Amino acid sequence: MANPSLLILAGDGIGPEVMAEVKKLISWFDTKGIVSFDVSEGLVGGCSYDAHGTPLTDETMARAQEADAVLLGAVGGPKYDTLDFSVKPERGLLRLRKEMDLFSNLRPAQCFDALADFSSLKRDVVAGLDIVIVRELTSGVYFGEPRGIFVEGNERVGINTQRYTESEIARVARSAFELARKRNNKVCSMEKANVMESGILWREVVQEIHDKEYPDVALTHMYADNGAMQLCRWPKQFDVIVTDNLFGDVLSDMAAMLTGSLGMLPSASLGLPMANGRPKALYEPVHGSAPDITGMGKANPIACILSFAMALRYSFNMGAEATRVEKAVEKVLADGVRTADLMGPEGGSPVSTTQMGDAIIAAMEASQ
Ligand code: NAD
Ligand code: IPM
Ligand code: MN
Repeated sequence: MANPSLLILAGDGIGPEVMAEVKKLISWFDTKGIVSFDVSEGLVGGCSYDAHGTPLTDETMARAQEADAVLLGAVGGPKYDTLDFSVKPERGLLRLRKEMDLFSNLRPAQCFDALADFSSLKRDVVAGLDIVIVRELTSGVYFGEPRGIFVEGNERVGINTQRYTESEIARVARSAFELARKRNNKVCSMEKANVMESGILWREVVQEIHDKEYPDVALTHMYADNGAMQLCRWPKQFDVIVTDNLFGDVLSDMAAMLTGSLGMLPSASLGLPMANGRPKALYEPVHGSAPDITGMGKANPIACILSFAMALRYSFNMGAEATRVEKAVEKVLADGVRTADLMGPEGGSPVSTTQMGDAIIAAMEASQ
């Protein structure tokens, strides 16, 4: 049988730095005879704009559609801030998500015990935390029409449209309920049904899918603003949170601080099954290109490494190997290995991106 294929799009800023550590892990799996991937690479974001004048070429888009899984680093940066909106780096990522129809974005937030004292919240609040935000990723205000900047009378008006169809809500709701069944069987759906019609529809459809197909799962609804407050107050009340594209973006960055650092949060963006039964899938850290630390060897590669672990679990049915990577990360953190983002204000001696990657590989070796 042919090796499974991986398309790596490292992107901009710290993207290539953190992805380099994932590549080491891929080689390690190969050398150990555990799994060999056919790896190819491509450009996305600003680096693609620099080379081709577009943040994603049709050719790279087609390769992403063909790959068994796509691994992405990060896109964007100040160098591209003044580009026309249509060719901004972020448009490349959004095109991948939309054309691959990756409607279900799983953003787990897990607090490793070794980092519980490092979160900006109290240890009690975060220790043992293990929640997943399921973010709808291909619709809502990110894609709704009409959109644009128009002139009305003698002033400009910026327009984006929050739009959800019933079927778009239903499919992401199913994905959240399925996930909850494998976890603690609880889903909290977040919207703003008090002020938005799309929120009313969201709440109704999630409830209908629940009542018809998943009555065994405990479902609650919460307004997203209260949800943000509850995530800070007592995040362990949640198991799976399902929410729309924009609320999911904001709430997941917030959830990052429950785990200690944005450099810790992985994600899996999943679509429908392909002919080979694997879901269309893209794996990427929740963080961005971190221009403030690019090129300094300071970036934490753990979010990217844990995203690769999610690829092992969700695309390649290698749950045991995924757990092994996660345990290696846990061990390294327990040993006190820290990149700069995981240091308190009192400082200490952080390791570099490369040293963190090497420590995780060493822990993989030791776990054999
Ligand atoms: P960011 O996530 O890049 O950075 C926010 C802060 O977190 C920065 O201080 C950064 O140094 C820190 N940080 C992020 N990842 C880190 C890591 N792995 N290790 C240590 N520290 C880390 O967000 P931003 O500054 O708002 O955005 C920068 C650019 O990235 C923008 O162009 C934005 O559009 C883009 N972005 C891309 C993605 C993506 O590619 N998926 C996600 C978010 C933002
Ligand atoms: C994320 C990012 C993206 C988003 C940007 C870069 C398009 O913030 O993946 O969280 O807003 O979805
Ligand atoms: Mn974001």
